[in-house]
Amino acid sequence: MPSSEAAREKNMVTPTADQVAAENSSLPLGGPAATLSRRSALQLLGLGGVTVLVAGTGVLSYRVFDNGVLDSGSGRAYDPWSSWRQDATPLGAVGAAILAANPHNTQPWLFHVNPTSVEVFADPTRGMPAVDPFDREHNTGMGCAVENLVLGLNARGLGNTVTLLPEPADPTHLATVLLTGGAAAGSGLYEAIGDRHSNRGPYRPQAVPSSVLDSLDAQAAGLDGVAVRWFTSEADKGALTALILAATEAFIADLGQSVESLSWFRNNRDDIDQHADGPTLDAQGLSPLTLALGKILPATSRTAGDKFWLEQTRTVHTATAAAYGVITIADADSPAQRLTGGRLLQRIHLAITSRGMGLQHMNQITERIDRERQQGLPATFAPQLQSLLATPSRSPLVTFRIGYPVRAALRSPRRPVSAVTR
Ligand SMILES: Cc1cc2nc3c(=O)[nH]c(=O)nc-3n(C[C@H](O)[C@H](O)[C@H](O)COP(=O)(O)O)c2cc1C
Repeated sequence: MPSSEAAREKNMVTPTADQVAAENSSLPLGGPAATLSRRSALQLLGLGGVTVLVAGTGVLSYRVFDNGVLDSGSGRAYDPWSSWRQDATPLGAVGAAILAANPHNTQPWLFHVNPTSVEVFADPTRGMPAVDPFDREHNTGMGCAVENLVLGLNARGLGNTVTLLPEPADPTHLATVLLTGGAAAGSGLYEAIGDRHSNRGPYRPQAVPSSVLDSLDAQAAGLDGVAVRWFTSEADKGALTALILAATEAFIADLGQSVESLSWFRNNRDDIDQHADGPTLDAQGLSPLTLALGKILPATSRTAGDKFWLEQTRTVHTATAAAYGVITIADADSPAQRLTGGRLLQRIHLAITSRGMGLQHMNQITERIDRERQQGLPATFAPQLQSLLATPSRSPLVTFRIGYPVRAALRSPRRPVSAVTR
């Protein structure tokens, strides 16, 4: 099944029980003999007075196998998560870099490993011109990768001296990290690299203590000009939630953004094996049963997926956010500041991970800010977010929620080091 018929990132088509029933009443699983009826869907969910009825048609069994229903996060696209520690050379540190958070799992990076340095380049072919027209997220995600790279080099005693944008004539050359050597310096952040995943599931109703927020603020040490604005009170969170929901609605009403987002979604194992990038159903934070159903059932339409994403954003992502954070910089158009903001974002995500907490990036507002600017539309989201920040001298870079997750997040695929180094 082509990914264009599938789900979207944040945004996925995996249906709720009602949607399973309403929208898949007669969608074929692969042939007329394998039609999953509304009644069958309810039975699968145990909602039809029948417990679980996965009466095996061959096709259904095949989909269970083919889509990895029983073994989430396995296969060669997930190998980089288990091989990043072993290699003591700079390539091992690149193995840590590629596990960083990055927008829509586009993995927009290339690395040159030289005898004296590791050079970090953007891969301009992996941008998102409708969702991220000015490379805000692209630059930020590259900052996340730089942070993991530095942690990886440091842990191997290979060096940690970073120069951002070392070659003004080449804007794709984003960073140089010198291999100056030194004592191996592992860290809690480094140890968390392999366990960090974006957690899009529900979080428990438990506030984040201010001492935890203070320790996350402290992650900005040594990173010039970046900070976090926390939204923790019900009033503050409510105002940001309203803006996120409005931005989500505007995003899905924008055909270009909706279609582009969907184009990166990898809906089945073949897609994942082939591309080793993009968001997947496994990464959506669903309950095991809903996840299994989402893999077994055929993908619904783009618009149904958009609707489901909006519903998830309303009822899970925003409804269970214990706190929101917005990374701020002085100039949101500065690639260097974005890279530094990305380094802070990655540190915070790693620090959250080592505390057993969850983090989900939620950037609908800034995606709409940039889209309005790209299309010459009146700026509606920019002034509203700026006013919520309440500091005119700071610009919002990216937004996320944190909390204590109900369930662990699953891995996302990665392209191997060999595919992104030259
Ligand atoms: C700059 C940036 C923006 C992102 N925006 C979103 C977002 O709006 N919604 C979302 O669910 N995930 C978002 N993500 C998370 C990525 O989708 C995620 O990092 C990627 O799919 C890889 O998955 P992993 O973080 O679990 O390894 C963003 C990540 C970065 C670095």
